[in-house]
Amino acid sequence: MTPAKQFTVAIIGGGIGGLALAIGLLRRNVLVQIYEAAAEFKEVGLGLTIGPAAHRAMPLIDPKIREIYDTLITTHADSPGFERFKDTWFEVVWATGEKAGEVLMDLKALPSGQTTVRRADFLDALGKLVPEGVVHFGKRVEKLVEMDEDEHEGEGVEMVFEDGSSARASVVVGCDGIHSRVKQFVLSEEEYNRTQPRYSGMYGYRAVLDMETMVEAVGEHRARVSSMYIGDGAYGVTYPIMRAKKVNVGIYPLHSEWDSDKWMRPARKEDMRRDFAHMGGHINSLIEHMPDPSQWAIFEHPHISTFARSRIAILGDAAHASTPHQGAGAGQAIEDAHVIAELLGDPRVTDSNHAIAAFQAYDAVRRPRSQRVVTSSAQNAYLLCLRLDGVGGDEEKLKSRLNVQLRWLWDLDVQEQAEGARRLMLERIEGSIES
Ligand SMILES: Cc1cc2nc3c(=O)[nH]c(=O)nc-3n(C[C@H](O)[C@H](O)[C@H](O)COP(=O)(O)OP(=O)(O)OC[C@H]3O[C@@H](n4cnc5c(N)ncnc54)[C@H](O)[C@@H]3O)c2cc1C
Ligand SMILES: *[C@@H]1O[C@H](CO)[C@@H](O)[C@H](O)[C@H]1NC(C)=O
Repeated sequence: MTPAKQFTVAIIGGGIGGLALAIGLLRRNVLVQIYEAAAEFKEVGLGLTIGPAAHRAMPLIDPKIREIYDTLITTHADSPGFERFKDTWFEVVWATGEKAGEVLMDLKALPSGQTTVRRADFLDALGKLVPEGVVHFGKRVEKLVEMDEDEHEGEGVEMVFEDGSSARASVVVGCDGIHSRVKQFVLSEEEYNRTQPRYSGMYGYRAVLDMETMVEAVGEHRARVSSMYIGDGAYGVTYPIMRAKKVNVGIYPLHSEWDSDKWMRPARKEDMRRDFAHMGGHINSLIEHMPDPSQWAIFEHPHISTFARSRIAILGDAAHASTPHQGAGAGQAIEDAHVIAELLGDPRVTDSNHAIAAFQAYDAVRRPRSQRVVTSSAQNAYLLCLRLDGVGGDEEKLKSRLNVQLRWLWDLDVQEQAEGARRLMLERIEGSIES
């Protein structure tokens, strides 16, 4: 008897996107191998928030992903006395102007409210769902070579790694992050050159503080309730992680230039004080309590014309890295993984040509949405810095715009998205059988 799936999948990169996809494919009996450049699964120990749509996609990939997430999350209910904020995503607080220090609005995220994890904990737990033998560490892909059927070595893609070794699979999904190497084999050289990730016009300072330090800095309420501080030309965000024992902090000024070719550069406390001098008591007190004043450049990915070419596709930050101003990047990688897993796992998808049709359908359905996230996240930075055209610092307009920005992102019917992609894929497969 021939196996149900006569094709193999290689995943390049074991970040949140690559692992979510691998778990989804394994559950659907698709043969998969992961090639990860690092020596182990690795994430910075900072916080991550995942919005409602990606939260709903998790159990559809594999119920275990959602179980892990729900075991690791911190919510407002982890702070005794703050249970009433269980529907709250962020309280939005004025940092500048005559209302400085006051709450503009309680921004809700139904039904789950704010949920956050420590990135490294989430990635570690996802890694444990992947059986031994599936992951190959220390394998940095340098080159992909597509093999035609008529070559005697057989069809598929050859992956050449930095260490000189190589491996093969029928199809490849690049989940290799914003500096994606795989992307180079999906786009033309001209487009690849033209669409390198670019500085978004903002940098940030990030830290994780102990809850006690945080309470000392901004008081019990502001420390325990996820907060967005909006001000003229800058904004800040804080949310509890690790059962409210720690708080993730990020503060971002608009700044048109980034003169370094590095993504992170050392800075001094003086730089932070200068960048946020006008941002009110909460932010200025936070600054005095933040340890590491490195500046992190915020980059984003210009729109590209396709996420797939023949046997090679890209997913997550490799395809559409966005700025973090809507807390949506990892969620988009999870939504991508859900769609690809559903398509490649479909019982009617049995050979490489079907997998190629699946990649085309994935591109058609996921590209418009994930690229809209890039655009909308960039706008959100201006909104939070009171600089969005037509909104500025107007209280009512800010409130309604903040809701609008998040509704379309969160209210997606994730299963319908996958079904839409499935219909497109089946049309392609049936079309090619008839012709
Ligand atoms: C400041 C900041 C805050 C953020 N906050 C949030 C948030 O709150 N919520 C949210 O949803 N998102 C957030 N994001 C975005 C989120 O971090 C990313 O969207 C997400 O991590 C992307 O996952 P990924 O799997 O696509 O890529 P990555 O996590 O970048 O993983 C890529 C993997 O590929 C490996 N790799 C790279 N090159 C190769 C190669 N050539 N061969 C083999 N392996 C390779 C890497 O080692 C890595 O393990 C934030 C981003 C930033 C910058
Ligand atoms: C793309 O960039 C590389 C490296 O900078 C350069 O060598 C190459 O000529 C460029 N190709 C095109 C088509 O622009």
